[in-house]
Parts: sequence; C-alpha cells; structure tokens
Amino acid sequence: MALITCKNLSLAYDSVNVAEDINFAVNKGEYVCVVGENGSGKTTLMRALLGLHKTKSGDITLGEGLKRNQIGYLPQQTPTQRDFPASVKEVVLSGFVGGMGLRPFYNKAERDRAEKVMERLELSDVQNRSYSELSGGQQQRVLLARALCATGKLLLLDEPAASLDNHIALKLYDIIEGLNKEDGIAVIMISHDVQSAVKYADKILHMGAKTVFYDKADYLASDDFKRLSAEKGAC
Ligand SMILES: Nc1ncnc2c1ncn2[C@@H]1O[C@H](COP(=O)(O)OP(=O)(O)OP(=O)(O)O)[C@@H](O)[C@H]1O
Ligand SMILES: [Mg+2]
Repeated sequence: MALITCKNLSLAYDSVNVAEDINFAVNKGEYVCVVGENGSGKTTLMRALLGLHKTKSGDITLGEGLKRNQIGYLPQQTPTQRDFPASVKEVVLSGFVGGMGLRPFYNKAERDRAEKVMERLELSDVQNRSYSELSGGQQQRVLLARALCATGKLLLLDEPAASLDNHIALKLYDIIEGLNKEDGIAVIMISHDVQSAVKYADKILHMGAKTVFYDKADYLASDDFKRLSAEKGAC
C-alpha cells in the first residue's frame, strides 16, 4: 500500500474552488515534486495532506502505518518567520512536539536524535545561535532538520529552496536527495524550479487547469512541462 493516496480530491476556500480531481499516490521511498503556477493550490494541497486544511471532497488515505503526526513538514516561508526568536536547537527540537502528546519535556532519545540530525545537516556548530541571525540557506537547513525530527518516513517540503542563491539551493537539494536515496525517506516537494524538479523526482504532480500525475519520462514529453519551462524557466 502507498504511504499516502489522494483520490478525486477537491480543494476550496469557502465557496471558491482551488483545485479539483486530484489523484496521486506516493509510495515508500519515492520522490515526488509538485509543480504549477502561483495560486494553483500547491500549498493548500500540502496542508490538506497534513490535515490542516479541510478537503471539499474526495479522500486522502495514509498507508504503511503512517500517522499524520509522523509526517515532517517544512512550510513555505514568510518574512516574519525569518525573525523567529529561538535558538537553532530549540527550533530543531520543536519537530518532536507533534508526537509528544501531553508530555511537556523532550526526552533523552529525542535530544540525541536532534543532535544526530543537526550533525547530518551540518548545524552542530550553530546550534546555540539565534535562528533569526542565520543566513537564508542555514535557516532552511534548520527547518529541514526540524521536519526530519518529526519523521523517518515522509517529508513534505514547500519550496525549500525559494529565495536561496543557486549554489546554496543546490546544496539543499543534495541534502534532500541524500535523505531520500540513503535514508529511504519519501519526499513530496513543491518547487518553482521545474528543471530541478525533473532532475530529482521520480514522479511529478502538475497542478493547473487540470491536475495530472506523471511519471518523469511522460512529464518530460508533455505539453504541461514545455509550457511551464517556457514561462519563466520556473513553475
Ligand atoms: N487562507 C486563504 N483564504 C482564501 N483563499 C486562499 C487562502 N490561502 C490561499 N488562498 C487562495 O487559494 C489559491 C491557492 O493558494 P495556494 O497558496 O495553495 O497556491 P500555491 O500554488 O501554493 O501558490 P504559490 O506558488 O504562490 O505558493 C490562491 O488563489 C490563493 O489566493
Ligand atoms: Mg505555495
């Protein structure tokens, strides 16, 4: 069974439709990119997958024993979040909160795991610094570390490389690829960078007037890909 399956899903805000007839499934260890123009409903879909946005109709089914609080989420960034007044370590540890129930403190296993995740993402040296003082690339790595503390199975990443310089973005994509290929963590990543999307992903969910779920080879040959690539070298 797939980790997550969407069937005939429609999304709306009150009576305003955002996207309809969304069908796709993400299996263990897969890498899926979600692309589409601004306002096509990518973030809303991700929030629906997390149970943070009520669906209008259709079904979202979790499989392989996955629970909603075991999904790691890196939200789309806003300028105010960049000033968040907490240490790197505190932000990373906060990834465990969704799985802690009523327990008010982090336990040793969680602290040890946070240390390991920070080592893996090269954040150990800055762990006591304020999140707000870090560069954009470091901040995104902190948020990825936070998401990773919540999960060993599935990461949902909403434009993790937006507004990063090219080489910093590439470094982040490399890290994400490592988490996918080496650790077997499935990834659903929203990206405005359609070229990187097709480089890394196994499958592409293209959101637009019609939402289509493609294998990579089919997507590369599609009009959707050609149109989106031509528009701004981005999606
Ligand atoms: N809280 C909200 N209330 C009402 N409408 C909203 C709300 N959030 C988003 N929308 C609208 O829903 C549509 C989809 O928004 P969404 O943020 O999911 O798009 P997106 O594909 O993530 O866009 P972007 O590429 O700019 O991040 C847009 O038309 C947006 O204006
Ligand atoms: Mg968005």
